[in-house]
Order: sequence, then structure tokens, then C-alpha cells
Amino acid sequence: MPTIGENLRFWSDYDWKLEGNEWTVGYGGTAAAWRYAILPRIQRFVPCEHILELAPGHGVWTRCLRPFAARMTLVDLTPRCIDHCRGVFGEQGMTYLVNDGRTLSGVEDQSVDFVFSWHSLVHAEHDVMRSYVQEAMRVLRPGAFGLIHHTNYGEFAVEREDRPALPNDHWRGVDMTAAKFRNDCVAHGLQCVYQELVPWGSVEPVDCFSLVRRPRPGEPLRPTVADENPFFWQHIRLGVALDCRYREVPIPIPEN
Ligand SMILES: C[S@@+](CC[C@H](N)C(=O)[O-])C[C@H]1O[C@@H](n2cnc3c(N)ncnc32)[C@H](O)[C@@H]1O
Repeated sequence: MPTIGENLRFWSDYDWKLEGNEWTVGYGGTAAAWRYAILPRIQRFVPCEHILELAPGHGVWTRCLRPFAARMTLVDLTPRCIDHCRGVFGEQGMTYLVNDGRTLSGVEDQSVDFVFSWHSLVHAEHDVMRSYVQEAMRVLRPGAFGLIHHTNYGEFAVEREDRPALPNDHWRGVDMTAAKFRNDCVAHGLQCVYQELVPWGSVEPVDCFSLVRRPRPGEPLRPTVADENPFFWQHIRLGVALDCRYREVPIPIPEN
């Protein structure tokens, strides 16, 4: 069960020499991950004034997001990660916060246009995610969105009559599920607009991308559309294959 303390220890001692690029090999590299996994899911919401990235690590996605925001706030549990990001991204338009692993204190109410997290909060348990849902509701401007990658492994952590428990090969939060995320959104008044449940080293939908929105005053909460996407990885591979096809087209260069 990955606690906040275990996350802090693990990421403080982690060998960051590949700076987060080690987790994009399965996509075909970081450029492919950005282009075919992340950008299609966030392009309706950026560019914008202020992006808050939660748990950026060494900033592999910060680098991609930076051109899409006038300013960014980076919040991470691990001081080493925030120090590294400060060294890379500098002070201009940037705010850096080391947090307690569950709150966004230091971020003003209703000041954020887009909250983003990818590859990180999959290691968080339900108590942490519930707190971040509440905090996202507080810091987002009315009408603003967020995309949060978290786990749904809790659905598969225990054996059921019809299937065995799945091994926790990717150090997922064991009690976190997509259903808990959307219930927490309702409890805190945040709209969970859409949930895309995707496989992660499995056939089963072990992870989830939740798209949230802070409603404008008076707007009612609507039911979440939750959808399994078993083709998540295939879609990325098709994009990469298309790139390769055109990269290899011989281009005749006329001789003078
Ligand atoms: C697997 S790394 C991913 C970093 C980055 N998103 C990437 O893809 O390279 C996990 C990051 O999440 C941070 N983290 C883990 N649990 C956290 C929590 N509860 N709150 C804030 N940051 C957390 C760690 O400090 C680390 O920087």
C-alpha cells in the first residue's frame, strides 16, 4: 500500500537519470506519449493562463505543457523534484511548492485554469485522492477543467468469485477506484465530466483518466460518463506507425 511516507522516501531516493522518460518507452517515447496520449485529451483546455501540475517529478510533462500557459504552478511531495524543476524551468512565470502529499496549500482559491497530473497519482491511495479532489474544487476557477491520471486498481486488488486478484506490478494505490473518485467529486461539488478507464500492463482497466470541471455558480452536477477504452495503447501505436510510414517515404531531391 503506497503511503505518502513511502512515496516520499521512494522518490527522494529514486535514480532520476532518465528524468521520467523511462515511463514513456511503452508509448514509443516521450514525444509519442505527449502527441498521442496526452495532447488529444487536453487540447480543448489549453492554452490557458495558469496550469497547475500536480506531482511533476523531474518535469517531463512540464516541458511539454510550458508553452501552453502564461504561468505554471508545480506541486510535488518530494523536495528533490521541486528543486530540480526550479533549476530547469527558472522563476519566470513559475511557482514551486513542496506539499504534504494531500493539499494544495499555497495555491489561491479559484486561481487555476487547468489542473494536470499524469503518471504520478496512480501511486496514491483513496484518502490522498479524496483530498486532492477537494483541493481541485477549491483552486479551480469556476468553469475550469482538470485531467487527473489515477488508479482503478482497487477494483482488481482482491479476489472475486469470477476472477483472481491482479498482481500489483506497478505499485498502484490498492484502495483507489474510479467509482470512489467520482463519488468524491459529487461530495465536494466538483463535476467529474468523464472517466476513461484504460489497461495498464493488463487487459483489465487498471487505470483511469478523470476529466473534472468546477461548475459555475448555480450549475447542477451531472452524472459522470464513465467509459472503458481497451484500445488506449493501440491508438498510440497507430499514431506512431503513421509517423514512421511518412518518415520513411523517400523524398526525391531534384538535381540542379
Ligand atoms: C512516477 S513519478 C512521475 C513524475 C512525472 N509525472 C513523470 O511522468 O515523470 C511520481 C511523482 O509523484 C510524486 N508524488 C507521489 N505521491 C504524491 C502525492 N501524494 N502528492 C504529490 N506528489 C506526489 C513523487 O514525488 C514523484 O515526483
